[in-house]
Amino acid sequence: MTTYEVPARVREGSPNPMATLEGYEALYGEVSSDPDAFWVAETTRRIAWAKPPTQGLGGGFDQIADAPLTWFADGQLNATVSCIDRHLATRADKTAILWEADHPGEDTSWSFAELAAQVNRCANALKARGIGKGDRVLIYMGMVPQAAVAMLACARIGAIHSVVFGGFSADSLRSRAVDCKATAVITQDFGMRGGKRIELKRVADQALVGIDEVHTVLVYQRTQDAVEMEDGRDVWWHDLVDGQSDECAPEIVDAEHPLFILYTSGSTGKPKGQVHTHGGYITWTSFTHQHVFDLREDDVYACVADVGWITGHSYIVYGPLANGATTLMFESIPTYPDAGRYWDLVERHKVTIFYTAPTAIRALAACGDEFVTRRDLSSLRVLGTVGEPINPDAWEWYHRVVGEGRCNIVDTWWQTETGGICISPIAPATPTKPGSATLPVPGIEPVLRDAEGVVLDGAAEGLLCIRRPWPGMSRTIWGDHERYVDTYFSMFPGAYFTGDGCRRDADGYHWITGRVDDVINVSGHRMGTAEFESALVHHDAVAEAGVVGFPHPIKGQGVYCYLVLSEGHDMDDRGELERELQGILRNHIGAHARVDLYQVVPGLPKTRSGKVMRRILRKVAEGQPEALGDISTLADPGVVEAIKAGARSLA
Ligand code: PRX
Repeated sequence: MTTYEVPARVREGSPNPMATLEGYEALYGEVSSDPDAFWVAETTRRIAWAKPPTQGLGGGFDQIADAPLTWFADGQLNATVSCIDRHLATRADKTAILWEADHPGEDTSWSFAELAAQVNRCANALKARGIGKGDRVLIYMGMVPQAAVAMLACARIGAIHSVVFGGFSADSLRSRAVDCKATAVITQDFGMRGGKRIELKRVADQALVGIDEVHTVLVYQRTQDAVEMEDGRDVWWHDLVDGQSDECAPEIVDAEHPLFILYTSGSTGKPKGQVHTHGGYITWTSFTHQHVFDLREDDVYACVADVGWITGHSYIVYGPLANGATTLMFESIPTYPDAGRYWDLVERHKVTIFYTAPTAIRALAACGDEFVTRRDLSSLRVLGTVGEPINPDAWEWYHRVVGEGRCNIVDTWWQTETGGICISPIAPATPTKPGSATLPVPGIEPVLRDAEGVVLDGAAEGLLCIRRPWPGMSRTIWGDHERYVDTYFSMFPGAYFTGDGCRRDADGYHWITGRVDDVINVSGHRMGTAEFESALVHHDAVAEAGVVGFPHPIKGQGVYCYLVLSEGHDMDDRGELERELQGILRNHIGAHARVDLYQVVPGLPKTRSGKVMRRILRKVAEGQPEALGDISTLADPGVVEAIKAGARSLA
């Protein structure tokens, strides 16, 4: 396996205390030896506190069942002050947000001074509608700068935002609104993606039918096309926000006041509302964004994720803005108008740090090198990936063709729950190995355990846990702390269990092997198999559904679905049934939830106690029917033969 040294150009002039491996190791050691002292000093220096904290960690993993843990509990702040106000003295005219619209070349930039005015106006508008501290506001928007403004405006007044990715269906939006008891929604008429309009307002209207608690829907107008507006409830952004004052004092809150809720899929039941708080989250995102990407003052930083996911929260909005960086927001898709869009964007805006997902890299690599090589990408210095394991071939392509061998690649492992990056190279310091997320960032103590909980030392493969709390981790699941404890702390009491498998090599490098639970990761979109299954059984023809992931050359994982049909139904018209099922998934989850392969089976493999043996479903979908292991506990072993015989594959 090749190891790539850090290119000289990446290391040169780095202001990073971790610019070398020795520097990294020293800082890692310092944090580990006294985390409280380190983080209190670090956050006091890094973040604008109204009342600086004297306390580090409160509580801990061993007391997590009693109460959520805390960081900096006696401090007070508002996260937006770090993102905006404190930059006004030195960076008022610096570009804060660079927006690249769907239509190529249509761009706008907002300075920190302009961003401040926009956020304050929006914050005042929310207040004018009676929204205040602790209220939950759903944000259902596309990638317009107003989405970032909406997030920051909520935070400014101490309201708690919950951004719902614009691809989610009305049902998904509705269940989130109900779960967090939202009283307001911020949306837009239409989203624009790849030349197509996305009906955000219409879907929001559908989602909100009968939810009287939502008294305000603030609508940003992106297009000239008409949408329906409900009298009293709905109000246009340009009518309400634009006329407000540019000044709005931040609501100063306790460090542990929730900043946002972000829903993410787990292996069971409905999505979980992860709660992140002002103090710890802003400290962690700022710290990791600066160090991992080795941020410099004149960087043009582009993360092409969507604000609807945690990557957009942490590394488009909060981390970069807290660091006074120029952050790019990209409205479009990588293949519009052609597969050169990212590289066109990099060339035109002279992007220095570029952050995307492996699935996009694989898809673009398959389109040929010319889309990349015809652009001048000499501005690039650091290339990041996130969201799923990156296969060495895709990594090499990114390194060689996009980075022209001059850039370091940071393969960043983290989760919605972790708030920010946990395992990753530090751009100027860490030699890389294609496919490895390498080493933990200071403050993160990963441990590998076997299924019995035994800690594995040295080179080993096991279940990835984190031994000690860090400031950026989610504190609870909204309204259900028990579920939080159960999901992350019941498997290995005293440690946070990530749900990922991981191999550690002899150099201590981490290789994430993927989820070990029933979460599937399709093109970097995290979905629970249970969500698919409960949606699919809404179709009359479906008696039972068993959904698992399987390796997919572009999407990382594809979705494989075993169907048990109801009496009297068959799959003679496969095309039609598949279309109808797809429609159900679109309505229940969203357009990004698609099944790649359906297989009709006579029954699901169940134990005598009725539990589906998912391992069998997984192995067959992965094309390894010979590796089923012990199936003697099955109620009807005959089912397995039928499943094996009818197995499908993409080829
Ligand atoms: O399985 C891991 C995978 O994505 C999961 C977290 O998904 P989500 O909460 O949606 O957050 C995605 C963006 C941070 C993880 O449990 N994952 C994330 N980054 C990597 C990864 N797998 C391998 N390598 C990564 N760099």
